[in-house]
Amino acid sequence: MTQSLSIPPLTKDLARVLIDADTISRRVDELAHKIDEKYKDLEEPLILVGVLKGSFIFLSDLCRRLTIPHVVDFIAISSYGQQGDRRGEVRLLMDTRENLAQRNVLIVEDILDSGNTLAYLIKTFTSRGIKSIETAVFLDKKERHEVDIDVQYIGFDIPDVWVVGYGLDYKEKYRTLPYIAEMIPQK
Ligand code: IMP
Ligand code: MG
Repeated sequence: MTQSLSIPPLTKDLARVLIDADTISRRVDELAHKIDEKYKDLEEPLILVGVLKGSFIFLSDLCRRLTIPHVVDFIAISSYGQQGDRRGEVRLLMDTRENLAQRNVLIVEDILDSGNTLAYLIKTFTSRGIKSIETAVFLDKKERHEVDIDVQYIGFDIPDVWVVGYGLDYKEKYRTLPYIAEMIPQK
């Protein structure tokens, strides 16, 4: 039996729903299908590396739709503004449990903004002698890129606005909304 989720209404912080839950679900199906196709002949499991915390909902929906063998792992990084880090500076706070040497890795990230986080992760993982690396990003703010990144699986392109829901937060709020909403930071 499937349980239907009630859809929480917008609060005064939230301007509008940008992407509704059904649209998200259909797109995640498509992405999982593409990943299945790409890796269907792989002999070892694909290592999915979710970037905490923002990717945890996207990753859990994505991995449950995959039919190829896979292993779920996580890393945590500091994001700018949180610990007073300088913009563009990324630090690894928690590493994967899996040894990534000679493995096929798919980084799963919530959103591509400047691109600094993904650039850092691709560089770090590549230096560990991985067999292959690709990236899946749920949202992409194309106008904001500061570095060139090759992303193989993108959920949706979005404008340069702050968004919350489906794992993404504003000061730890709104992560578990089932849709993506545009946030209006209150004065
Ligand atoms: P980047 O390194 O600039 O690409 O930043 C990526 C990180 O910034 C993401 O993984 C998010 O954690 C955070 N981020 C950027 N834009 C948003 C947003 O609109 N909502 C929530 N988090 C965001
Ligand atoms: Mg993130």
